[in-house]
Amino acid sequence: MLVEMKIRRFNPEQDKKSWWGEYTLTDVNPNDSVLDVLHKVKWTIDGTLTLRRSCAHGVCGSDAMRINGANALACKVLIARLGKEGDAKVKIQVEPMLGLPVVKDLIVDMEPFFEHYRSVKPYFISDRPVPENGRERLQSQADRQKFDDTTKCILCAACTTSCPSFWAHERYVGPASIVQAHRFIFDSRDEAYEERLEVLGEAYGVWRCRTIFNCTNACPREIEVTKAIADVKRALTTGEI
Ligand code: SF4
Ligand code: F3S
Ligand code: FES
Repeated sequence: MLVEMKIRRFNPEQDKKSWWGEYTLTDVNPNDSVLDVLHKVKWTIDGTLTLRRSCAHGVCGSDAMRINGANALACKVLIARLGKEGDAKVKIQVEPMLGLPVVKDLIVDMEPFFEHYRSVKPYFISDRPVPENGRERLQSQADRQKFDDTTKCILCAACTTSCPSFWAHERYVGPASIVQAHRFIFDSRDEAYEERLEVLGEAYGVWRCRTIFNCTNACPREIEVTKAIADVKRALTTGEI
């Protein structure tokens, strides 16, 4: 299969603004991922191409980028899925995620994203003594189910960087942080839900969400992100956890 790939390139040491690099690859296996093809470009055409990746299996969340206009993990998108069945040629356009500063080529500075993440206290908080005999803190299956979906987040930022509200207001805490807060707010064993709801009830908290759904569509873990945001909005208005 022939692949014509356009990659948005930017080297802050050389370029005043970004530019499109164009690369043609022959004999690409349709079952290769976009990450495989990016590796081919880097290893056989231009070694200066810079991207972030680790696991190559949709687990680490480090290779989220904009592929043909939609955020995705490069290792999870197969070339065959980007064209029509029977196509001998596929065109692919790859860009860094929007809304975060570009460090180089496809790498963005994740620090503003993690600053929002830290603001919601994404860790277990409880002053209750540890149960005797070293037993775990028990909860019912129904209580565990309340936050099951949001445990799947891998912090790839595909949701937050596809959200128009985040593009408009970089101070908006963003869907990924709300998902992470949801995981603890609805955990019956945790005791800091009021602190998290206070952060999310502020001007740049959940009310900046306009229910646009880009986040849900972008999530590679198929988390119901917009539903999690709605759960938090409901908790803020009704006080029900
Ligand atoms: Fe990525 Fe989904 Fe987590 Fe957002 S909610 S950071 S898209 S895994
Ligand atoms: Fe943005 Fe998702 Fe809300 S795209 S506006 S956080 S539903
Ligand atoms: Fe780890 Fe793609 S490289 S999720």
